[in-house]
Amino acid sequence: RRVQVAVVGGGPAGSLLGILLHRAGLNVVVLERRSVEHVRGRIRAGVLEHPSVTMLREHRLADRVDREGIRHEGVVLSDRGDPLRVDFQGLTGHGVVVYGQTELQKDLFAAIEAERVKYLDEVEELALGDVTNRPVELRYRRGGREETLLADVVAGCDGAHGVTADAVPRGVRRTYERYYPFGWLGIMAETAPVHPELIYARHERGFALCSMRHARLSRYYLQAPLDTDLGAWPDDRFWDELRRRIPPAAAERLETGPSIEKSLTPLRSAVGEPMAYGFLALAGDAAHSVPPTGAKGLNLALADVVDLAEVLLEAKDPGPEALQAYSDRALRRVWRAVRFSWWMTTVLHRFPDDGPFAERIQDAELALLRSSVAARRAMAEQYVGILP
Ligand code: FAD
Ligand code: DHB
Repeated sequence: RRVQVAVVGGGPAGSLLGILLHRAGLNVVVLERRSVEHVRGRIRAGVLEHPSVTMLREHRLADRVDREGIRHEGVVLSDRGDPLRVDFQGLTGHGVVVYGQTELQKDLFAAIEAERVKYLDEVEELALGDVTNRPVELRYRRGGREETLLADVVAGCDGAHGVTADAVPRGVRRTYERYYPFGWLGIMAETAPVHPELIYARHERGFALCSMRHARLSRYYLQAPLDTDLGAWPDDRFWDELRRRIPPAAAERLETGPSIEKSLTPLRSAVGEPMAYGFLALAGDAAHSVPPTGAKGLNLALADVVDLAEVLLEAKDPGPEALQAYSDRALRRVWRAVRFSWWMTTVLHRFPDDGPFAERIQDAELALLRSSVAARRAMAEQYVGILP
């Protein structure tokens, strides 16, 4: 079998790319390792930037986002209990939409099914042949059978632990990365969100984030050591710790209840350059990772795919040159989001190995945000995703 584009990975990036290319009349297939049920149920990101929402609308994929997403016009930054609101709407004219990645994935699956986009799940042991020659050969196992697929172009949308990025030789691909010495312990609970807007809290005991999915579903995170044992964190301990890190007024109102999910996410910044090699292009987490603090991961993945689809559809016969142009364009955008996520992470977390100097710098960063409308506007523009 031969296709024009083989998309490896069927998360948000791969699903959206499959839909856009299929709609444009390309012969495309999405190959996903896990089952559709697994991909549909995964809990991950929660915030859509303004440009992501606009893009989803343009592609008629935002009906439910518009109906069920919660528009947020600002956010609260708390400095050791002292809240500061950043007014996105007033500063930028835009807001963000709180809408779970889980829900977006369901919407993408609905379009995939309705429009008969070819999406194969439970594709195992996928291996790429030489990506510098066309067609590229993909081998995999599905339903106990060995399969081979030939593709003019391969889109690597297989996330941070995928295989496609490894097809770029070490001498060509350079990875720029930073690990942070902590993770996020997250829970989901069927309780009312503590505050109508998100609260990003800096605290001596570590960072905390109060987020939500809807009026009866809250998402909370605590900065925690990387070796945290989830078993040592029964719900009561989580709620007690959260109360200590957020503004007192919020702590008093906090509605607690049993968690329905609990997980630890390590934090990392990483960019692999270039994002294309031969007839392979990488998009989303396959190409880069950001710490979750700026809520950029999902948005970057969507923006990559839009850029990639445009390049694939504009070039009559997309080859290494067109894909390189995609990489150049995407990387300029990616680095700005990487910088922002790094900055949010650095300003708000407690770094166990950094001394009092770093803490004073954090104090000064937050003082600047508090006193300078220009600083708040710069933060707001980047958070809502409008890059002047
Ligand atoms: P993914 O969603 O990872 O999709 C990749 C897909 O490829 C997966 O379905 C995977 O099963 C599949 N795959 C992998 N290997 C293969 C293979 N060999 N063959 C075939 N298929 C393969 N971002 C935020 O902004 N805020 C958050 O709070 C947040 N929380 C997160 C929590 C966790 C636990 C994780 C892992 C990520 C989180 N992110 C968050 C990041 C955000 O979810 C990602 O940036 C986003 O999912 C990227 O989409 P993607 O399609 O590029 O990658
Ligand atoms: C969520 C996650 C984030 O990383 C973030 O910055 C905001 C919200 C969330 O899961 O709701």
